[in-house]
Amino acid sequence: MSESPVVTGPFTVTAPGRVNLIGEHTDYNDGFVLPMAIERHVMIDVRPRSDRVAVWRSDLPAGQSTAADGEVITLDLSRKLEPPAAGQRHWSDYPAGVIAGFQRLGWEIPGFEARVSATLPAGAGLSSSAALEVATATALETLCRRSMSPEDKALLCQQAEHEFAGVPCGIMDQFAVCLARAGHAQLLDCRSRQIRQIPLDIAASVLVFNSGVKHTLADGEYAKRRLECAAAADLLGVRSLRDVDAARFGERIALLPERQRCRARHVIAENIRVGEFVEALENRDWPTAGRKMVESHWSLSDDYQVSCPELDLIASIAASLPGVYGCRMTGGGFGGCAVALVAATSAVETGRALHNSYRETTGIDAEWFLTAAAHGPRVTAGSAA
Ligand code: GLA
Repeated sequence: MSESPVVTGPFTVTAPGRVNLIGEHTDYNDGFVLPMAIERHVMIDVRPRSDRVAVWRSDLPAGQSTAADGEVITLDLSRKLEPPAAGQRHWSDYPAGVIAGFQRLGWEIPGFEARVSATLPAGAGLSSSAALEVATATALETLCRRSMSPEDKALLCQQAEHEFAGVPCGIMDQFAVCLARAGHAQLLDCRSRQIRQIPLDIAASVLVFNSGVKHTLADGEYAKRRLECAAAADLLGVRSLRDVDAARFGERIALLPERQRCRARHVIAENIRVGEFVEALENRDWPTAGRKMVESHWSLSDDYQVSCPELDLIASIAASLPGVYGCRMTGGGFGGCAVALVAATSAVETGRALHNSYRETTGIDAEWFLTAAAHGPRVTAGSAA
């Protein structure tokens, strides 16, 4: 553990959301992912207190928070925090889960007031929960005047999500948020947890398009996919689907029932696509990179069955627009956002065209934005409040 810069008095922490460029539903199969942080974030204004009480307030926009207006959450830090009863979910479960992780490590957390706000939409597949967890962890490091490695911090936040939010997520989101570097995407090997920072070229822009369909990962479908993949790996006689290459899959495909076969086919092909996508990026070969995104989308829709009609529509409209190299759903799925790689010279026109065409068919006035790859969590002295 190293000392973190000492901040006395109020301070502000920001932690970005992330968009995953490719490598979807591969993290919990020990595979490869390629997320990057986006220029939308969660922000916590923190004021130290002299007691052992944490007082949380939320300025999250209506509809993005389960907090009633003006609601104040008070946590007694001198007592061990416990996960909420199943089925009673609240935004404060995320910070509470992170605090519990620090308590487990024996860190003595002083009292504080925290006000949470965000420029990041929640429930849109952009990791608002990971951003809130990592922002909380960074605030606690600052309050305790100690720090932990970004990898340990990411794992602690993932555990908070498992135990306090009931989502059995992989490691991608928390790693992406903790280890983000401006101008880079993170190629993460989810088995070894090694990261390679991949520089992004400004000739191609990243466009994030919110379908407007709320996704929720706690509803059981995500957990079901994990179990189906584990069952497929078992039947194939390997530790995880990461260990199956296309040739071995071809030989053994008959061992799998239809559903597991489809899930495994997606994961195996998606892991290969991540490598091909990175190579295309490094060669500045945008059409090939875009093609990999398109293949990824339809594999997630057909074989993995985590898309929805609106995301499929966005992928189809994008395929018909000049200036789009490729477009796919991003994140857990069942709604949320799509990500497109578009020509930088016409990126704004492309976003507008996609928006108009999507609205004509669905009536949804979708939010979209272009984003560069952003930096990870930051602490600044003073308060914005
Ligand atoms: C969610 C999870 C991640 C990952 C993606 C799908 O974002 O939190 O761990 O599994 O879904 O790629």
